[in-house]
Amino acid sequence: MNSIRLRSLSHFFLALFLTFAAVGNTAAQDVGSAPAVSKEGVVPGATAAAAPAAAAGATTGDAAAIAAGDALFKGNCAQCHAINDKIVGPALAGITKRRSLAWLIPWIKNSSKVVASGDEYAVKIYNEYQKQQMPSFQLSDAEITSIISYVTAEEGKIAGPPGAATGITPKDGAETPGTTAEAGASSSTIDILLIVLVVVLLVLVVTLVIIANIMKDVLRGRKDLDGRDVEQMESRFDLAKIYRSPVVRGLALGLFALVVLYESVQGVMAIGLTQGYQPTQPIAFSHKLHAGENQINCSYCHTSVYKSKSANIPSANICMNCHSQIKTESPEIKKIYRAIERKQPIQWVRVHNLPDLAYFNHSQHTQVGGIECQTCHGPIQNMEVVYQYSALTMGWCINCHRESPLNTKGNGYYNNLVKLHDKANGAAPFTVSSNGGTECSKCHY
Ligand code: HEC
Ligand code: HEC
Ligand code: HEC
Ligand code: HEC
Ligand code: HEC
Ligand code: HEC
Repeated sequence: MNSIRLRSLSHFFLALFLTFAAVGNTAAQDVGSAPAVSKEGVVPGATAAAAPAAAAGATTGDAAAIAAGDALFKGNCAQCHAINDKIVGPALAGITKRRSLAWLIPWIKNSSKVVASGDEYAVKIYNEYQKQQMPSFQLSDAEITSIISYVTAEEGKIAGPPGAATGITPKDGAETPGTTAEAGASSSTIDILLIVLVVVLLVLVVTLVIIANIMKDVLRGRKDLDGRDVEQMESRFDLAKIYRSPVVRGLALGLFALVVLYESVQGVMAIGLTQGYQPTQPIAFSHKLHAGENQINCSYCHTSVYKSKSANIPSANICMNCHSQIKTESPEIKKIYRAIERKQPIQWVRVHNLPDLAYFNHSQHTQVGGIECQTCHGPIQNMEVVYQYSALTMGWCINCHRESPLNTKGNGYYNNLVKLHDKANGAAPFTVSSNGGTECSKCHY
């Protein structure tokens, strides 16, 4: 009888082991791509002993700069960042260990430019934070340095990582050493833990099989077993029995139902979404070649993008400014000539298209708002063929309006509005949404 219970126990452990192996695999993948940012504090080596050193570094720092940084941080960054907590953006503790000042200055001035440049780290955190755009700041290098000094001083007060306060290295392009090692540290601890777990489970399974066999041998020596017991004792390992079991079937069915449910919800949510849409164009026109390598301004071709609601697609005449001379023998260029001869426009396939019920105005965003094309269209200058980079959903518009501070400086129109807003909301920034940018009628006719 015991052998029977043991045997089913070993089956149970085998199943458990397989589940762990499967789950462990996916978990490891998740962790691998997970933020290194919010892991401050679990990084091995950030011991309490190092804290006094950090604090000492902070007190020897320039107190005036820290005070200035404090004010700038509270005025510009605090709504999205805290030192030790993740709010909208990552916790900034240990930032000087992750990034050099030479990286931080351009990032804070204009993060979308850094993302658009293809900087690996920038693209990674940008994606990690659901492609939320950090606004651009017109701060001087000195102001940014003081914000960073303030951040390092603050993290020093709360048992920050070792040497944090001295971590500012205004070296050109140089990364603080150890950045990547630490980023990987906590994810590899989890990997090791999973491996240990798998090994332990393996040992358990093997031990149980051995015990089961020993028990079987003992039972074989006994004479007082009836026929049914003997039959069960001698029964072989039988996979069919496992999936005939109602429990296993129930579990499998439940799992299947969950997967189907998840996939359908995802499917329904994606109706009408055309993110990533990349049609083939009638002429192999490359933005990478023109806007990237040859650095032709976007507005050389999309002439109305700063002036009007729509960014126009250039007519063949604009192509001819150059291609009456350049690559005249290329079959792709001959297509332009043919279109002109036939007096017919080139039939470009439209990529971005909002439904008619929504109103979007380019000049409001590019000229007035000062937003880079790449913020919404992605790294166009690297695209051979244009694709739709952003979701273009209502949520996408609204989120940005909630988060983007409105540039009201030097614009008398806003003076009273900002005063009233500050009176009612205290430190909350004056965003596009404070100005009514989330009212239905602003975007819907
Ligand atoms: C509207 C919200 C918002 C404001 C305001 C904001 N940030 Fe950010 N910040 C983010 C988000 C979101 C990220 C994550 C990267 C991304 O999605 O672009 C980020 C990332 C960063 C990073 C990189 C962090 C890391 O762990 O690598 C730094 C540094 C940073 N911000 C500094 C600042 C400073 C300094 C200010 C103030 C001058 C500021 N931010 C203001 C939202 C904001
Ligand atoms: C030499 C002319 C030229 C330059 C310079 C140029 N574009 Fe274009 N752009 C085109 C043409 C032609 C198309 C239509 C064919 C296509 O989609 O590739 C287009 C299409 C696009 C589209 C997709 C439009 C749609 O159908 O929804 C976007 C977005 C875009 N350009 C953005 C940019 C940005 C951003 C830059 C600057 C970094 C830029 N373009 C520079 C000629 C140009
Ligand atoms: C300001 C100048 C300029 C304008 C305007 C311009 N191009 Fe170009 N184009 C170039 C240059 C430079 C090259 C690269 C030639 C080379 O590789 O030697 C090129 C290459 C090309 C090629 C690749 C040809 C091949 O066979 O390698 C195509 C296709 C092309 N352009 C299409 C267009 C179209 C369509 C337009 C109009 C929407 C346009 N270009 C507007 C400068 C221009
Ligand atoms: C705030 C986000 C945002 C910014 C910034 C932005 N665009 Fe767009 N762009 C859009 C949206 C949304 C559409 C789709 C508009 C529609 O379907 O009515 C679009 C469409 C386009 C089109 C297709 C033609 C059209 O007007 O529908 C082109 C070309 C284009 N953008 C180029 C640019 C260029 C060049 C810049 C930078 C100078 C730029 N965009 C900046 C959001 C943006
Ligand atoms: C990357 C951030 C961003 C995205 C994405 C964005 N907007 Fe905006 N939008 C702004 C900013 C910033 C302003 C304020 C410009 C200014 O007036 O200084 C603005 C202003 C507007 C206004 C004028 C609001 C007013 O109070 O007058 C409208 C309308 C608007 N956006 C529509 C849209 C629509 C529709 C979409 C989506 C298709 C969209 N926006 C996506 C940043 C964004
Ligand atoms: C910042 C611009 C913006 C504001 C503000 C806004 N919307 Fe939208 N809305 C859009 C855009 C863009 C779309 C189209 C998105 C899409 O097709 O996924 C849309 C789509 C919709 C749709 C879906 C239509 C359909 O066919 O799926 C409804 C309903 C809607 N909006 C209602 C509202 C209401 C109600 C409000 C006010 C509480 C509002 N919107 C405020 C930009 C906005």
